[in-house]
Amino acid sequence: MKAIAVFPGTRQLQIIETEAPRVMRPTDVAVRILEVGVCGTDREICSFEYGQPPLADDHLVLGHESLGEVVEIGEAVTRVAVGDLVVPMVRRPCMHEHCPACTSGRQDFCYTGEFTERGIKGRHGFMTQLIVDDEQYMNVVPRALRDVAVLVEPLTIAEKALEQIWQVQSRLPWACEVTPGHGPGSCHSAVVLGAGPVGLLGAMALRANGFDTWIYSREAAPNPKSDIADAIGAHYVSAETSIDELATRMGNIDVVYEATGASALSFEMMKVLGPNAIFVFTGVPGRKAPTPVDTDLLMRNLVLRNQVVFGTVNAGRHAFESAIRDLGTFIERWPRATRSLITSRNNLESYAELLLGPATGIKNVITLDSLRS
Ligand code: BGC
Repeated sequence: MKAIAVFPGTRQLQIIETEAPRVMRPTDVAVRILEVGVCGTDREICSFEYGQPPLADDHLVLGHESLGEVVEIGEAVTRVAVGDLVVPMVRRPCMHEHCPACTSGRQDFCYTGEFTERGIKGRHGFMTQLIVDDEQYMNVVPRALRDVAVLVEPLTIAEKALEQIWQVQSRLPWACEVTPGHGPGSCHSAVVLGAGPVGLLGAMALRANGFDTWIYSREAAPNPKSDIADAIGAHYVSAETSIDELATRMGNIDVVYEATGASALSFEMMKVLGPNAIFVFTGVPGRKAPTPVDTDLLMRNLVLRNQVVFGTVNAGRHAFESAIRDLGTFIERWPRATRSLITSRNNLESYAELLLGPATGIKNVITLDSLRS
């Protein structure tokens, strides 16, 4: 079968022929991959800034955002059935018994750093025709979400962030009044930094929770991203507006959801964070020259305004379940906008252009099977 692999030793990216894996253990599930999303992380791996092949291999099969169909199950499998649509989780636990995160099934919080991630770190990914993995890593998706389910994995980033936002928010002994049409974020404002897929999915999740949501992005409006912002009832503000002006327009900034990987911009935004506010980092920037930061101002604000800053990576089962549920909500509320996040579907042979060419569109997808419902 075919797979798209990167060879760090020779700095090559190519289609390879590889042997199809087989169901060996009773809890194994074989999944025929239908679609794989291309993301910034894949592009970074292809520029050799990130990523790591399995120990015994000279190459890494790419792909971590996926949708597949179960084609075979081991004799002890109970969570999925043949024919189910599934989105597999990305991260696998480290092997250390003393890692409380990995031993509790929360490898997204791994302490040792020896976790593996399919298609990213130490384990082959999903840009291939068939994979076999344990049933515990499978998340079943309703058929009705077939054409957008490849967005589940990038949406888990926002879901895990929101879970933690609510945990932090619970330190305040008051909450927004929740009524039909007014979610738990309805008395709060949020800025989403960046209008890529992670940013736009984050904005949808914030809107679905009722936040007054502002997307701050480089490109001048109107553009396809600002159209999505309009459709979901978010404000789109381009970088022609300064951060200070944005803060003045918003009044108070309760949450910043960073989805650009642009560290200098993020620390500028941190300066205008409001009282009791939360700043969430999700981007993984490449290392560039150091940037000066007004550390006294930031530290004063953090203390005097009770602010919380946290980073969030990967996702556990709960975030996948929330993502599948919320994607259903998005499709119901904003069918066109949700579908328009996927800007192209391509065959396997387009891999070089998608992974090495200029970044275009919003979410580009590689289709390994013709669309079937
Ligand atoms: C993936 C996560 C992963 C992170 C860091 C992201 O693109 O969605 O699963 O943990 O990269 O490797």
